[in-house]
Amino acid sequence: MSLTVLGIETSCDETAAAIVRGVPGSPAQILSNQVLSQTDEHAPYGGVVPEIAARAHIDHLDGLVARALEDAGLALHEIDGIAATAGPGLIGGVLVGLMTAKALALSAGKPLIAVNHLEGHALTARLTETLEFPYLLLLVSGGHCQILQVHGLGEYALLGGTIDDAVGEAFDKTAKLLGLGFPGGPSVERWAAKGDPARFDLPRPLLDREGLDFSFSGLKTAVRREAEKLGGPAAMSETDIADLCASFQATVAEILCRRIDRALSQSPTGLPLVVAGGVAANQTLRAALSQTAAAHGSRLVAPPLKLCTDNAAMIAWAGLERLHAGRTDPYDIKARARWPLAELT
Ligand code: KG4
Ligand code: ZN
Repeated sequence: MSLTVLGIETSCDETAAAIVRGVPGSPAQILSNQVLSQTDEHAPYGGVVPEIAARAHIDHLDGLVARALEDAGLALHEIDGIAATAGPGLIGGVLVGLMTAKALALSAGKPLIAVNHLEGHALTARLTETLEFPYLLLLVSGGHCQILQVHGLGEYALLGGTIDDAVGEAFDKTAKLLGLGFPGGPSVERWAAKGDPARFDLPRPLLDREGLDFSFSGLKTAVRREAEKLGGPAAMSETDIADLCASFQATVAEILCRRIDRALSQSPTGLPLVVAGGVAANQTLRAALSQTAAAHGSRLVAPPLKLCTDNAAMIAWAGLERLHAGRTDPYDIKARARWPLAELT
């Protein structure tokens, strides 16, 4: 039976509310997808300020929920369940979203689904495409960089991850270092499009080691050193900046693809590869992953760009999958700042 779920996302610097309708196993309908980015509020600080984020969520969330319902042409009593990110993330923001969801669920007498934000990213590909379990997942966002095996709803096995910076963080720090603005990923990608990826030979930490872990902090240091050699960002030409961005981006793609290549060679032939999280919006990375998957007879499933970065449609969808499986949560469930996917049930 088709279910309709309202989703709320407030774990970082996007305030979002969305309504999704469907049945697990086939692509769903996104009836509304409201995302309000707080980029301008955080830009002066060069990164997300938790206190500012939490206040902005409080200011905007009610209005976004009302607009999501209006957009979908639905009243609250026509919704089957209310899902909100319950972690991991900036705790102040997570609390705002989860409390709002609890109040809505309680007042309308609807089930509550406390969604793990990372599970939201992990299941997005099933929202937009027909994709069966199991699959291999590369989760690359501002806070996470992991390779996981997805066996089913709530069943994730961690195969490898970053031992220092997340890959989105490496993009953000590189952008900050070069004075390219915040958030870093999209601006580095724009500059990289005009640059020569072969100009700078940057390190690929850990690649000579066994296993599936990554490291990005050495790469970030190397970018700083190259920039310093050229006299710092102020003295660098536009070509220098574009070339350094392109070299950085190509190196990141190579590091990720070499690890995915190894993970696929240890997996059953044809296991689909899914990429998710904000960095999955990067076109160079998508193209490289697609080639790597093809070399193993696998297909790459990458969500549409606007569903890669944080949004509430993915939270509504994860909530819908859980509601369908009868896995709802008590109204007194707690928000969690830290909540690894491998600990989910
Ligand atoms: O998933 P997400 O929206 O939020 C987290 O859960 O972290 O990911 C945000 C991260 C940021 O670090 C941002 O710079 C990065 O994703 N990002 C990108 C691109 N778009 C966003 N990185 C590389 N290329 C992009 N086009
Ligand atoms: Zn995210």
